[in-house]
Amino acid sequence: MCNRCFDNIGGRILADQPTIFVLNGPNLNLLGTREPEIYGTDTLDDIAGRLDDRARAAGALIDFRQSNHEGHLIDWLHEAQAVGAKAVLLNAAGFTHTSVAILDTIKAITVPVFEVHLSDPHKRESFRHLSYVGMAAKAVFAGHGAKSYELALDVALQL
Ligand code: DQA
Repeated sequence: MCNRCFDNIGGRILADQPTIFVLNGPNLNLLGTREPEIYGTDTLDDIAGRLDDRARAAGALIDFRQSNHEGHLIDWLHEAQAVGAKAVLLNAAGFTHTSVAILDTIKAITVPVFEVHLSDPHKRESFRHLSYVGMAAKAVFAGHGAKSYELALDVALQL
């Protein structure tokens, strides 16, 4: 049985297992060594592995990606819509606080997007208090370190 069968016309996922995209923005590839006093010591691979196990146990699949480029995140949000993803967990990192383009993208798609952060931006510098992602996200999970992703996944799996 294939997990991700695409039809020839719309490119939609025909699999019986729902897929959740987990999209990570700039500098998150450095997790583990990047400001560990703020972000902890888990690497992005550690987080991806745990989400994968959790999703599989619930009969779902994770598509986990990271990019330092805003346009990649936008293209991947479009892709999540095109393939019929069940939800997107989005840690847009620094773009959270700057990107009208990502806000526009979240508004342009119907896939539910959950905003995720390791730290709690509201307890940090004032420039992190504004979240363009949060203006369109279904919910926000922040301040629980790597666990923020797992909490968001548990909610997304229940959609
Ligand atoms: C972050 C918080 C952002 O303010 C920051 O720019 C990041 C990481 C977090 O996961 O805590 O890069 O999104």
